[in-house]
Amino acid sequence: SLPKQVRIVEVGPRDGLQNESQPVSVDTKLALIDWLADSGLQVIESGSFVSPKWVPQMAGSRELFQRLQRRAGVTYSALTPNLRGLEDALSVGVEEVAVFAAASESFSQKNINCSIAESLERFQPLMEKARQFGVPVRGYVSTVIGCPYEGAIAPAAVASVSQALFDMGCYEVSLGDTIGVGTPATFVAMLDAVAAVVPVEKLAVHCHDTYGMAVANIYASLQQGISVVDAAVAGLGGCPYAKGATGNVATEEVVYLMHGLGIETGVDLSVLVQAGRYISESLKRPYNSRVGKALLAK
Ligand code: HMG
Ligand code: MG
Repeated sequence: SLPKQVRIVEVGPRDGLQNESQPVSVDTKLALIDWLADSGLQVIESGSFVSPKWVPQMAGSRELFQRLQRRAGVTYSALTPNLRGLEDALSVGVEEVAVFAAASESFSQKNINCSIAESLERFQPLMEKARQFGVPVRGYVSTVIGCPYEGAIAPAAVASVSQALFDMGCYEVSLGDTIGVGTPATFVAMLDAVAAVVPVEKLAVHCHDTYGMAVANIYASLQQGISVVDAAVAGLGGCPYAKGATGNVATEEVVYLMHGLGIETGVDLSVLVQAGRYISESLKRPYNSRVGKALLAK
């Protein structure tokens, strides 16, 4: 059976923009975040406290959080790869953070320059400090279906990293099909393995739409008991360490799917489409949401 409500975690300002080749100003990001909050989205991943040498597009995150006009009822979160990232985030008032690990050793090396086990160890002091400050930590697992360097990933590998993140205190684990190669069959097999070790209500899915399978995978995930879905407005995104991976599933598509299924999201699709149009025009590119384009053409 399907959930009555789905929580959407909007990752456009972070996952969506981290890979842009042209610089995106803090002003543009702040305007986008405001549009997203206007649409009713309640969780907006707004930046990353990572090395600017590794991901230059996120270098403005400190300034962004300093200038952000926070609204009641909206959580503005950020990625933090290590204790240093958490400390930087805390210094500008970030109230929720996320750590990120991978199910593939090669991807872990390329993305955060260490093994999976080392990354989990690195998160321990971060988790400790976050607990002291009362800051909730979300956990990401990347490459849950396939890896650009290793190919297919075993569901058992995803389960073990997910369990480690949950056991160290992540309140939720988001399962990332970083390169968008999953199908409903591989998603169900992966979710079965992970849900055997982490309660399904503590899991989220994070789909990239490289092969156009994201909506199908999300629908299959709902039937497996998932009720938290990550998405990026206008289908923005791609990972700097996953060549050829295209954007996240568009938030517009996710909202249209949910409302069509009678599932509440709290999002006003017509306002969300304005956010999608705004950022597409700012980046000078076609609007990459089928739902958004269809609604604007009406
Ligand atoms: P490293 O080079 O192994 O670490 O990087 P290091 O400790 O030797 O530090 C190197 C330099 O970075 C030093 O500066 C540090 O001070 C600095 P230098 O002495 O060279 O001038 N540094 C930092 N600067 C700012 N903030 C920090 C920080 N930490 C160290 N927090 C590190 C290791 C993790 C830092 C690096 O690999 C990194 O920043 N990686 C970022 C990777 C990233 O952001 N990837 C994209 C996000 S993950 C994703 O998109 C997937 C997801 O969407 C889910 C999915 O789709 O599957 C979540
Ligand atoms: Mg991603």
